[in-house]
Amino acid sequence: MAEMDMEIAQWYAVADMRSLADNTPIAIKILDQAIFLWKSHHQLYAGYDSCPHRGTPLSLGSIHQDHIICPYHGWRFDTSGQCTNIPAQHRSPPPRARLTMLQTQIFHDLAFVTLSPKILKGPDCPLFPGRTVLCGPYDFSASAPRVVENFLDVAHFSFVHQGLLGSIDRPEIVDYLVKEYAWGIEASEVRVFQPNPEGSSQPAEVSYTYRVLGPYTAQLIKKTPSGYFGLDLFATPRDTTHTQAWMVIHLAYHDNALSDETLQQFQDVLAEQDRRIVESQIPKLLPLDDRELHIRADRLSVSYRRWLKTHQVRFGTC
Ligand code: FES
Ligand SMILES: [Fe+2]
Repeated sequence: MAEMDMEIAQWYAVADMRSLADNTPIAIKILDQAIFLWKSHHQLYAGYDSCPHRGTPLSLGSIHQDHIICPYHGWRFDTSGQCTNIPAQHRSPPPRARLTMLQTQIFHDLAFVTLSPKILKGPDCPLFPGRTVLCGPYDFSASAPRVVENFLDVAHFSFVHQGLLGSIDRPEIVDYLVKEYAWGIEASEVRVFQPNPEGSSQPAEVSYTYRVLGPYTAQLIKKTPSGYFGLDLFATPRDTTHTQAWMVIHLAYHDNALSDETLQQFQDVLAEQDRRIVESQIPKLLPLDDRELHIRADRLSVSYRRWLKTHQVRFGTC
């Protein structure tokens, strides 16, 4: 695989559709690439954020009748990226006057963009029945693989999320299963005692299933006595050491009483607890060699690192 093939062939969550104003371009960053994004009548448009004339970001421009207008000399580009008007000359714009546009998709109220020029299916996160609640974005000054590995780390609950997802009196992790598939990794039967799962204040012995669905996408499904709780993680590497993480909660509870706000606030608390740790880790990039020690409880992380190495994921790793 050529360099970055795996990273480029992914969907990246970049904005909450509900807070994107119509016809107002914004600047985003994926894999260190500057990109503009705008929404018009539920259609999403994205492209590399550099005008072919003098390199001005189109995200500073404006939208008029489904055209993006460069703020410097007013060149207008249609939704295919072709320049249709150059105000300083009457002749029609040359074919080279065009923007490189990117594929977009909307999934769970999230705007996704891919840098892939090939048609991509996905984003690859299986849908659950029941309610969904979007949480985030959570900005980490950390590499995306460090953020994902933290999401997959089962032995930190008793320390980082003490009193919520784990208890200091019950820190052991009993053996669990990890299987690697063509699509990714699955760990199942990860059993943890939780004093306050999901902010419900009902202590419970819970069982987790984790899935790694891509280099920066993971999912957990937690089975509790009252039902299922699913959480998708979409970690978008803005650059090698800055990550914007989005989470989608899926709830299939017998008792579905917790409000969206309660669930979001609980996730905000957990993310803040994780952020302190993840931002402090050295090296910033996730090591794929053997410089860090692993124990049996880390076998999911070990498998994730092996998977990244096998797929030659370099962005955010070392
Ligand atoms: S730099 Fe965009 S129109 Fe000149
Ligand atoms: Fe955590």
